[in-house]
Order: sequence, then structure tokens, then C-alpha cells
Amino acid sequence: MARAEPKRKKQAEHPLLMAPVDWLEERSGLIGGLKYFLFRKVPRDTNWFHTLGSATLTAFIVQTVTGVVLAFYYKPSPNEAYSSIQYITNDLTLGWLVRGMHRWGASVFIILLFLHMGRVFLFGAYKYPRELNWLLGVLLLVLAMLEGFTGYLLPWDQTAYWATVVGINLNATAPFAGPFLSDFLRGGQEIGTETLSRFYSLHMLLIPGGLIGLIVLHLYLVIRLGVTSPPWSKEAAGTEREEVITAKRGLVEPRPRGDGAAADVRGRPEA
Ligand code: HEM
Repeated sequence: MARAEPKRKKQAEHPLLMAPVDWLEERSGLIGGLKYFLFRKVPRDTNWFHTLGSATLTAFIVQTVTGVVLAFYYKPSPNEAYSSIQYITNDLTLGWLVRGMHRWGASVFIILLFLHMGRVFLFGAYKYPRELNWLLGVLLLVLAMLEGFTGYLLPWDQTAYWATVVGINLNATAPFAGPFLSDFLRGGQEIGTETLSRFYSLHMLLIPGGLIGLIVLHLYLVIRLGVTSPPWSKEAAGTEREEVITAKRGLVEPRPRGDGAAADVRGRPEA
């Protein structure tokens, strides 16, 4: 005898609730994509170390949200920057909290980034077929450091000013590109209005835009390739495996090196 469907499931699949979901699915396929994301298979020995990537992502989201709130009140000009920061900290309701979260959160983001990178390295997760994701990660790391550097000048206090003098002078010592890099960052002979505008634009627009684009690509590859098992597992990255790593219709299937070229699995039965 067929088992009666649970009452809750019936309630959740009520036609009135499902209509908008079906409407969206028919027109976009987004619901199918979300289901694939939520119910995809992950190695059974996935552990707490695998949460470091999501923790880094959470720190980035906190930085984005608090940064947007700060941008409502911050004034990027040498005459007003410092006083606008004082206003946010001392007068604005909960301004001290938002600023504190953004300032401390920047360090938390960088620390988590390094911990995540360390876990990826120690688990050998940079090996085939995830080399490209490692390279994207390196770009993410560079952009994250630049985000920290450009944000440091914005409070326009003594620490900000002199830390930026040191940072720009360090850049100037790089071979060949050094002088161009420091001129570009300074925007003139002295650190002043131009420098602050440049750092503000880089910190608010260019670098976060790049970070968001790279994070989307990074997560796409994580979902497409799956995560690696820990090195003590039989399934660890780089070990010989019998089963195919990914076999999705319409995609080129990645295979371990030395096992012939990548096969096109577009609906063709195995020879
Ligand atoms: C904004 C920075 C970053 C974010 C938000 C991020 C996010 C994530 C997430 C959510 C995962 C899947 C879960 C996990 O393995 O922890 C992941 C995996 C991965 N990340 Fe990152 N990541 C970042 C930076 C980096 C960096 C700096 C590297 C290395 C240079 C890197 C290399 C990788 C690799 C190779 C994987 C695949 C790991 C596996 O298959 O086990 N990521 N990342």
C-alpha cells in the first residue's frame, strides 16, 4: 500500500504556493539551478575546514553591507573626510558599530582568506582539475590586499596619511613599473585631494567590482568541480580514482592526467 504523503509536504506544495515558483522556473530555470546547488553531492568526509571558504564569503558580505552604509555619510575630500568619520563614530546612531565592524572586519576578512588558502594548499585542492580556481584565488588575494590598502587612507588621519606614504614609496621601488605605479596612486606630486579621490574610487568601485566578479567565477568552479576530500581520505585530491569526477550532459568531462584527452560526453555512449 502506498504511504500517505506527509501533511507538511502537501501543505508546502499547495498550488497557490507553487504557482509563482513554477512561473519563475518555466521562464528562468532558476529553481532547478537552486535545487542542483542545494542538493549536489559533496564528499562524505567534508569537515569544518571546508567552511573556511564560506566564512571568507560571509566576511566579504559584511564588508560590503557596512561599506555601503558608511558611504552614505563619508565625504571623500581632504577638508571633510576626517570630520565625516568623526561624525559617523561619535554622533550617528550606531555609527560606531558599523564603522567598527568595517574596520575590524577588514582584518577578519584577510585572516580568513589566508586560513582558507592554507586549507586549500594543505588538502592539495589546487591540483588537477582545480588549478584554474587556485589562480582565481590568487587574483582574489591580490585584490583583497589592495582593498585593505586603499581603505586605510580614507579616515585621513595621521596614521592613514603616513601609512599611505610608506605604501606608495614601497610600490615606487618595484623594478620598471615602480615609478609609474606610485605616480598613478599619488595622482600628483603630493598625497592630497587627487590621491584621496583615486583611493576612494578604487576602494568603492573598481576593486569591489573585480572581487564580486571573481568570487562569482570562483564559486561557479567550486560547484562545477565539487570540493576535495581531506588528504587522509581515499578520495583525496591527486589519488587514482575509478569513477568519473564529473559527468554532466553537454559539458566536457574532466579526467585525471595521463588518461587521454578530455572526452566530449555530449550524450554519446561510452566506447
Ligand atoms: C574572497 C575570497 C574567497 C572566497 C569568498 C572563497 C570562497 C570559497 C568557497 C565558498 C569555497 C568552497 C568551500 C571551501 O572549500 O571552503 C572555495 C573553494 C576553493 N577556493 Fe576559495 N575563496 C576565496 C579565496 C581563495 C584563495 C585566495 C584561494 C587560493 C589562492 C582559493 C582557492 C580555492 C580552491 C582551489 C577551492 C576548491 C577547494 C576544494 O575543491 O576543496 N580561494 N572558495
